[in-house]
Amino acid sequence: MQRLLAWVDARFPLTATWKAHLSEYYAPKNFNFWYYFGSLALLVLVIQIVTGIFLTMHYKPDANLAFASVEYIMRDVPYGWLIRYAHSTGASAFFIVVYLHMFRALLYGSHRKPRELIWILGVLIYLALMAEAFFGYLLPWGQMSYWGAQVIVNLFATIPIIGEDLSIWIRGDYVVSDATLNRFFAFHVIALPLVLLGLIAAHIVALHEVGSNNPDGVEIKKHKDEQGRPLDGIPFHPYYTVKDILGVVVFLIVFTAILFFAPEMGGYFLEANNFIPADPLKTPEHIAPVWYFTPYYAILRAVPPMFGSQFPGVLAMGIAVLIFFLLPWLDRSPVKSIRYRGPKYKIALTLFVIAFIGLGILGILPATELYTWIARVLTVVYFAFFLLMPWYTKNDSHKPEPERVTAK
Ligand code: HEM
Repeated sequence: MQRLLAWVDARFPLTATWKAHLSEYYAPKNFNFWYYFGSLALLVLVIQIVTGIFLTMHYKPDANLAFASVEYIMRDVPYGWLIRYAHSTGASAFFIVVYLHMFRALLYGSHRKPRELIWILGVLIYLALMAEAFFGYLLPWGQMSYWGAQVIVNLFATIPIIGEDLSIWIRGDYVVSDATLNRFFAFHVIALPLVLLGLIAAHIVALHEVGSNNPDGVEIKKHKDEQGRPLDGIPFHPYYTVKDILGVVVFLIVFTAILFFAPEMGGYFLEANNFIPADPLKTPEHIAPVWYFTPYYAILRAVPPMFGSQFPGVLAMGIAVLIFFLLPWLDRSPVKSIRYRGPKYKIALTLFVIAFIGLGILGILPATELYTWIARVLTVVYFAFFLLMPWYTKNDSHKPEPERVTAK
């Protein structure tokens, strides 16, 4: 084995890579619960790719066959139900894990200098993930798939001047049709997975260039021993590989419990209407996107139309997502971690979480007048979190950051 390794090492930097990124890669010693979600996102990515490959073996991207091929997978393909439910549950799990992963950055200032690029790549991953989920949702060709896609593509039609042509270009037809299904299939199974893989690789390369942040928000590279090892760092392997395995086990217990006992999750992971084949002549009474899109859907509905056009809502929805890019520059606090920040940031972050979850719930409910007004208030809170950030982070009180991490 030693000789084989030496043979490989003379031709490929195997041991050097192992050392640089695992056994001699030093990570802060004070990682906590919030640091599980990066590795869990990688796990979900693998689950989605593997189950996706097996689904593709039996799925038919044809408007006349798609729905039946999914039913065939569920009923006749050996363990097809398991593969399909793992993939549909995995889609929701991806967003749960990624939302918690992003929230960690807001807690500890992980988006701040010198990690702006890790953050920007993260937001690009988030955008790609949304596109991936949207394209995938059309594939079962159920009522919700069809009408959901119809609604979302029609949003592009509200863009002035180019909108109409743009929406036809996206669909490849005047309505969602077989042509749309074929191209969404191509995007879902190859184009976006490639983009996602590339972005995730870049995300991790950027992370390993600057090193991880931690719950104290202090840079461990500032204090090193004679060998140049950070005093507050521990080798990623074995310490964090073992920690991450614990996260994986707990995650898989929850994931499989949902998969085996509640794969539809009361209609939140798989909607009842999507068990009805797509019918272009019959609009379902109530069209709502899957839960992970509902905060933005609520913002879309909260903004009133102008001159009969829905474009202002579409614009607000787009800005609500894209504004995440600016976070590293909106945040002016002298400290990174919430542990040393003052009350203003803590209140702002709490209100933002309430607004995000509140909008998420409202996006599922029908848009009654009362709910629309609540959504308007929460939309203002959502944007205020970002737009007022330069002010409240600069004028907030703060505790002095420690020199070294505080974990014993
Ligand atoms: C498929 C999706 C993603 C994967 C596989 C992924 C993977 C990872 C991994 C493995 C880490 C290191 C472990 C950790 O800190 O938890 C990390 C760190 C980080 N990620 Fe992600 N990530 C994803 C999405 C995102 C998104 C959407 C954002 C933000 C919009 C983001 C922002 C960050 C930041 C700022 C760090 C550094 C955290 C720190 O050092 O405190 N990531 N990511």
